[in-house]
Amino acid sequence: MRPSAKFWDRIAARYARSPVADEAAYREKLRITQGYLRPGMEVLEFGCGTGSTALEHAPFVKHILATDISAQMLRIAEAKAREKSVGNVTFRQAVLEEIPRPAEGFDAILGLSILHLVAHRDAAIADAYRLLKPGGVFVSSTACLGDWLRIFRLIGPIGRALGLLPLVRVFTARELEDSMTRAGFVIERRWLPRRRAALFLVARRPG
Ligand SMILES: C[S@@+](CC[C@H](N)C(=O)[O-])C[C@H]1O[C@@H](n2cnc3c(N)ncnc32)[C@H](O)[C@@H]1O
Repeated sequence: MRPSAKFWDRIAARYARSPVADEAAYREKLRITQGYLRPGMEVLEFGCGTGSTALEHAPFVKHILATDISAQMLRIAEAKAREKSVGNVTFRQAVLEEIPRPAEGFDAILGLSILHLVAHRDAAIADAYRLLKPGGVFVSSTACLGDWLRIFRLIGPIGRALGLLPLVRVFTARELEDSMTRAGFVIERRWLPRRRAALFLVARRPG
């Protein structure tokens, strides 16, 4: 079943206006990611939201395909790209499993604040592996609510039924890392900026 964009379309404008929760951690994640980027690279970002991160990374690579399920998020992202005169980011409405693999695969894939929002994380991680070229990296940042907010398993479905919350999956950091290694990734970098923060991982598809 196609994931619903209803919640995300509704909050897109508000999301675009809200400040990043932890600016220092966000900047550090950008810095670490840029350590892996090279000028000739083809990059995919899925769940790109309003495009801020793709636009930050654009000067460091050849091209970024930035996808999301929400037309409203993408509309804002495209306006930002025009405003900043960024020409090497293509925004597209798509789910991960629909994205065709470029002949040689992507050099890097970004999935930021998204793996806890997809219905099947193992399938999403397997898709990222399939879309990467051997030696490519998958950079992710994920709320692992199973480590500190297990009650969300109960609250989440109620909030969702009331239209107040999107689909949110609850799992631990260990479960996420196990999913990565089961898919074939080697975790190269692991950073939890503080307790209850999103887990930042750089995982490599072996060459
Ligand atoms: C929490 S926002 C994160 C946006 C951006 N990556 C960031 O870090 O600011 C989650 C985004 O994922 C999108 N999304 C939710 N479920 C998705 C799915 N199954 N496939 C692709 N995008 C999805 C939403 O529309 C939303 O833009």
